[in-house]
Amino acid sequence: DKERTFCMIKPEGVARGLVGEILTRIEHKGYRIVALKMLRLTREMAEKHYAEHREKPFFRELVEHITSGPVIAMVLEGPGVISGLRKLMGATNPQEAAPGTIRGDYALETGQNIIHGADSLASAEREINLYFRPEEIMG
Ligand code: CMP
Repeated sequence: DKERTFCMIKPEGVARGLVGEILTRIEHKGYRIVALKMLRLTREMAEKHYAEHREKPFFRELVEHITSGPVIAMVLEGPGVISGLRKLMGATNPQEAAPGTIRGDYALETGQNIIHGADSLASAEREINLYFRPEEIMG
């Protein structure tokens, strides 16, 4: 099954040295990493990435935060990977995320929840195209 999703390890995940741990969990589950890069988002990219949150009270904070340091962006592939990644991540609010999930094990605050995963097929396609050119994705 060739379902694909977009996943990002946010600045706090990189700063805290959790990249290896997170990639291990993703790979051990059986998802294939078909694209991966480290980058620092510009304000323009961050505003595009979070366009759906433009009207939220925390939008400025969100953009400040996501541009505050390097992130790891990736494309993951596997059966049911869009919802499956979100299960590995756990609830958006880490205080509600179950132990055994990435956020449940490593985070305490919604604004510092370590990892992002696309929430639908439409978001996955939009976000993959925002970060990767087709030739950067391994077939
Ligand atoms: P993410 O999955 O990256 O998508 C939107 C992000 O907004 C979410 O993770 C949280 O990090 C962030 N977020 C959601 N609600 C709040 C909030 N009330 N305050 C700060 N950040 C929030």
